[in-house]
This record gives sequence, C-alpha cells and structure tokens, in this order.
Amino acid sequence: MNYGRFQDDGREYVITDVATPSPWINYLENGRYFATISANGGGLSYYKSPLHGRITRYRINDVPPDRPGKYIYVKDLDSGELWSLTWQPVGRNREAYRAAHGFGYTRVEAHVSGIASSVLFFVPPDDDQEIWRARLTNASGVPRRLAIVGYVEFALGHALIDLINQCDDQHFNRVRFDRELNALFATKTYWVTETRGTQHQENKEWDQWAFFTVNHPVASYETLRERFLGPFRSESAPQAIDGASLSSRDTDFGNAVGALRVDLELAPDATQEVIFSLGVIPKAEFDRRKAGAVSKYRRATAVDTAFAALRAHWDEVFRTAQVQTPDPGLDVFLNRWLPYQARVAFDVGRLASFYYWGLGRGFGFRDTAQDTIAIAPSDPGRAHERVLLLARQMRSDGSVYHHFTEDGQGEFTEHCDDPLWFILAVTEYVLETGDTALLQRTEPFLDGPPGTILDRLIAVMNFARHRLGPHGLPIFGRGDWNDTLDYIGGQDGGESVWGGLFYAAMANQLIELFTHLRLGEFLPDLVDFRDRMRAAIEKHCWDGAWYLRAFGEHGRKIGSRKNAAGRIFINAQSWAVIAGLPDTARLKTAMDSARRELGSAFGPKICAPAFREIDPNIGLITRCVPGKKENGAVFCHPAAWLIMAECFLGRGNAAYDYFKTLLPDRVDSDVFVAEPYVYSQYITSDEHEPPGRASHSWQTGTAAWMYRVALDFMLGVRPTYAGLAIDPVIPATWPGFKAERVFRGTRYYIEVLNPDGIESGIASAVVDGRPIKGNILPLSENRECWVSVTLRRP
Ligand code: GLC
Repeated sequence: MNYGRFQDDGREYVITDVATPSPWINYLENGRYFATISANGGGLSYYKSPLHGRITRYRINDVPPDRPGKYIYVKDLDSGELWSLTWQPVGRNREAYRAAHGFGYTRVEAHVSGIASSVLFFVPPDDDQEIWRARLTNASGVPRRLAIVGYVEFALGHALIDLINQCDDQHFNRVRFDRELNALFATKTYWVTETRGTQHQENKEWDQWAFFTVNHPVASYETLRERFLGPFRSESAPQAIDGASLSSRDTDFGNAVGALRVDLELAPDATQEVIFSLGVIPKAEFDRRKAGAVSKYRRATAVDTAFAALRAHWDEVFRTAQVQTPDPGLDVFLNRWLPYQARVAFDVGRLASFYYWGLGRGFGFRDTAQDTIAIAPSDPGRAHERVLLLARQMRSDGSVYHHFTEDGQGEFTEHCDDPLWFILAVTEYVLETGDTALLQRTEPFLDGPPGTILDRLIAVMNFARHRLGPHGLPIFGRGDWNDTLDYIGGQDGGESVWGGLFYAAMANQLIELFTHLRLGEFLPDLVDFRDRMRAAIEKHCWDGAWYLRAFGEHGRKIGSRKNAAGRIFINAQSWAVIAGLPDTARLKTAMDSARRELGSAFGPKICAPAFREIDPNIGLITRCVPGKKENGAVFCHPAAWLIMAECFLGRGNAAYDYFKTLLPDRVDSDVFVAEPYVYSQYITSDEHEPPGRASHSWQTGTAAWMYRVALDFMLGVRPTYAGLAIDPVIPATWPGFKAERVFRGTRYYIEVLNPDGIESGIASAVVDGRPIKGNILPLSENRECWVSVTLRRP
C-alpha cells in the first residue's frame, strides 16, 4: 500500500492517505527553535535543547499515538459540527485530508463541511517561533459562522522533570492572557538545567516566556488542560469547545495549555486567514521585544517574506550539488531529501524524533563528527563551529566525552573509537574549504590549558597509540562504532578489528593532510602506525573468506566462520577496503562474502546470523531480539560504508545495487512503516518477523554518509587537497550523468560519458574546452567551469 508520493521533482512528499502506518513527520527548525510535525499535526516544540527548553509536550509511544500537537479546531456555530484542520485529533473525514512535507515546512489541506482549508506550518529562519497559517474558504454556497480554536499543551522548561515529577512541577506554571497584546504568555518559576533529573534543585526559573497569539482578536481563551478537555475526554472532542466560549481564566497551577478562540463569519466564496504563532522570548529581552516579536507574524506579508526566505535558504543549500542521472528516483534523494535529512540530523543531533524523547544524554561525539561531513559542502561556517564544539569536548590526553550537552556537561566512557572521529571532521572540513588556518585555532581542553586543533589531532593519535592489545589492535573497551559490542572479552575488554581498520583509515586521512601541509615531522610516526595497524590485521585477522570482527577473552574470535552466531560482520569487510589493506584479492573475497552472507531483499545486514543466546562476554547485541538493531538488522549507516567500499574496488554495479535497494521509497509502506522520504536507522532483517520494517527514522548517520558516499564515490565528484576529483564508479548500464558541484567558490558543470558501458575506469577530462592531465580538476579562479569527462577501460 502506498500513502503518498514525491511531487514536483521531489520538492514535496505528498501524503494522500493520512492514516499512515506510523506518524510520518517533518522538522520545522532554524537551528535554535525546533518543532516536529506529523502529517496529522502531532509533534513537539523546543528551544535550543529538547531537555531543558521544551515548549510543548508530546507523548511518545502513547495511545492514541502522535499527540498532542499543533491543533486548529473548527466548529460550525450553527450546526455544531466540529473538525480539525489536520485529520487528527478530531479524526473524522479521513479522505478529505492531504498533507505535504517540504523543506522546513508542512502543509495540510482539507475539504470538510463545505470549507476548504490549507494550513502552512513553518519556522522562520530568523525568528524563534512557529507559524501556523490557516486559509479557510467557504465553498458551501451559504454564509457560515465559525469558531476557530488554536491549541497547544505546554511543557515549559525541563522535559524530564515535566515527565517524572508532574505532581510537583505543576505548581510552578504561570499562564496569563495579555489582552493588549492579544497573546498568551506562559512560563515556569522553577527550572532545573542539569541533565540527570530532580535531586539537584536549582534556584532559578525558566529563562523564557512562551507566547501563543493569533491575527484576529481573541474572543475567549483557555490556559488549563483540565478545563479545556474536560474529565474523561481527549483532544478528539474537547469539552470546552461545546460551550459558547472558553473560560478566559489564567492559571498558576496545573497542566498548562494555550487555547485561543476567534469567531469568524465567512460569506460564500470568501477566504479568510487565521495565523497562529507560537514562540519564545528570552526573559532578559521580554520587555524590550515582546510587542514586536509577538505581533510580527500577524501580518500576512511578514509571513510571506519569512516563507520566501525559508525556501531561498533551502534552494541555496541544494544548489551546492545537483545531479541528473539515469535514475530519477536516486536524483530526488541526492538533490534534496538526503542533504535535507542530513542537515536536520546535524541540527537535531539525534535528540528528538518520533522515537527519541529528547530526554537523554545530549550530542554523541562520534555522531556529531560524522554529521559534520554532510554540512561542510553547503555550510562550511557551521561545520567549522561544530569542529570547535567537538574540540572543546576533549581532554589533553585525546580522550573525549562520549555524549555532551552544549552547556558543558558530558560523560566519559571507554569506547575505543570516539576521539578518532575528530580526525574525520577536521580533514573533511579542510578538504572542502582549504581553510588550513583551522589547525591553528585554539580552544580550551576540558582538563587544562588551551590547545590548537593541530595539538588535538596529535593527542588523538597518542590516545590511539597507547591503547593497543596483544595483537596490536585497539583495546575494545565498552564498545567501538558498534555500541552494543560492549563487553567483548568480558570486564577486561578484548580487541577491536574494526577499530584497527578505523585507526588505519584515520591515520591515513591525517597523513594526507600533513603531507599537504608539509608537516613532515609528524609523518614517519603516522605512517609507521598506519602500516603496523594494517600489518597486524593482515597477520591475525583473516578468517579464510573474510576478516574477523574482534578478539575476546583468551584470544576468542568474534566474527569467525567457526561461530554459530555473528559469523561475519559488515564493518570488518567494508573498512578493510576503506583502510587500504594491501591484499586486493582478499578484499574482493571479503566483499563477496559480505554480499553472500549478509545480503537480503531489504539490504545488507550488519552481521549474520543474529545472536540467539545471551553471551555476557560479547554484550548487549546478544541480548537484543534477532534481526533488529545491531543484532542482525539491515543497519543503514554501515550499509553506506559497504557501498563506499564497493566503489573503492571499482564495482559500480554492486554499489548501485545496494544503494537502490536501500532507498526508503522502494518498499511497500505497510511493510516499511516508517517515512519513505528519509532513511531510518535500521530495517528488520529476514531473521525477524515481520522483515522489512524500518525504525528510528530521521536521526541517523545514514543520511550524512549516504549523501557523501553517493556524491563522492558513486558519482565520484569529491574534494581532494589538489582540486575536485572526478572518479565515477557507476552501473555499466549508465550511458553517463550530469552533476553540478560548488567547490572552493567555483561552480563546476560536469558531464560524464560512459561510451564503453563500464563500471569505472580512467577518466579523461576536458575543462573549459582544454584537456587536462589526470582526473583532478585544478583549482580555478573562475566562478564557473565546464567539465566533460569520459570513462575508458584501463
Ligand atoms: C546508533 C548510534 C551510533 C552508533 C550506532 C551503532 O546509530 O547513534 O553512535 O555508532 O548506533 O551502535
């Protein structure tokens, strides 16, 4: 069953049946103010931090699902008929609704009881509020009198305390209607800002006023959920709307809500706009700004201008790289939805989604570093900021917080991989921008005097060097990229083969950077480290047809053909290629084994067979149900690395085949369940019933990696220190493709021809009519460059 489709070259995903198998959401955000919204209006809002700055509530995993949200009720004052401008929460006339998710906005249209409506939800790029712009047209032929009620349920501050300490926390709510400003203001007089919970009672109040307003005079309002919904009722049929007006009483206690009612008369064929806005104003600026900020978007022209700015922003982001391949379904993702998802994941940082409560531990160090690589091409400034943010999470010995919040709280863990992701973020940023000055930037270490970025790259390598086990591989600690391999080797921690490959690959990234910078003094050590790592793996980790994943207690092999479960792991094969292990025959065999042993109808599995017995000396992965998450699901993030590795081997058919299989819109939605326009963290494998079901959509490193892998390695248009390389690895059936890529200020218009029908080959390039040597486009002074590339058999 399908519930929708891409429209207008993928500029929107239109949902024609709003009874989607799970809430299909979108994000409205400007990097400070965040809102989620489903096709049915469900979703939460927060300012800066979903833990400390929660504006509205959203009850994850509750029944009915996807509540509360951003709701606009309509009541016919003559017939008494009630509906909502999104299908939920009233939930009638399902076929009358359509929703469209676009970039930073969602629009819901309906035609109920002779009233045609359209609501546009978005967050302006420059203001910390969300706009719900409703347009109602009377298509019924007779005059209508309507009551329109906008409704939100407030959280006001610390979301975890709101959840676990409701009975007390309710005493600190303050909600007031200001008649002069035609707006409700809400705040909390007690605010905890630490991450862990309630014990530590801080002596302060939430630093924001939330406001909720509308562009018509408010006829009546409500501030208390109990009065609005009524006993034993829900958002589907609020009791207060039955009456002639809302109570118009403020509250200092209870479940705080904002409900604003306006009464309209609509002549036949007339259209009226009702514009609600919900936002925050920092208390420090309240008196100065409230009038302007609160009333700004009551003017339709201000809404138009902000919406145009939002669209222009996204067009600009997407213009960084545009492709036209023989597969339009791939183009939709590469041109728009992948960079869009990657940007949202970068901004949200895994914190809040339909799956994540936003109550957890803050940003993950490795996730943040990986998210950065997708942002560097279109927004180097923000990538730069993130690198510095990551830098501040490090101690002078190179160890880093595993998770951290922006206000400086964090947690150290024993993961062997975390610090080295810093190398990825730094090198990808410099490759993209050429901004080598970054290396001299100074930031404080967590434990001492400031140090430069260069100091940190060295510190990270020292971290790596000092934690090697008996085979010369990284001591596993409490996990590597795979968090659920957390007790390999029991309490002592075994050794990570993938970790060794990762260390070698990151050492190699640094070798390239330092060679470019002529920082010769660091090179001998680095080359020696990388080569020793590669040699140790070749010596100890080849298992006959693939590479092992780890060594456990007493040298026990994990990811070996001799095991009943977890015989082969994806990352040990793909990263063997990425790390540049020298034995090409082995690499091909390993990748063929991955295809044979891990391949499935829904994509390659993370490992197989799944674990069915709990093994305390391996860890969490063995406690998880088979075929889900890290225990044998199709985990999409490492699947991107498998595609990358196929590209490294020049096998374009295989790379494209994996890519196509993993595109989220190519599966029946009743099977897939999650949104078809974004990637999910994992898809249940054939070892789980039912297989093919996606989960944890949106907030996954898959987006950043799929984006860069497809652009950089499949289409082969990638930054190098010398210039933009063109090195496609494509399906043999493609006659060619076109791509546009902005790199270091020049827009390259690239056409690739594949006359011999090959998967990869020596590219000869003509730049602005002149042939060049090799396939690296020299850095250009021109703002535009035309490039034609032809693939030939080697
Ligand atoms: C989740 C985590 C990521 C981790 C992966 C594998 O996606 O966000 O950091 O690498 O799971 O365990």
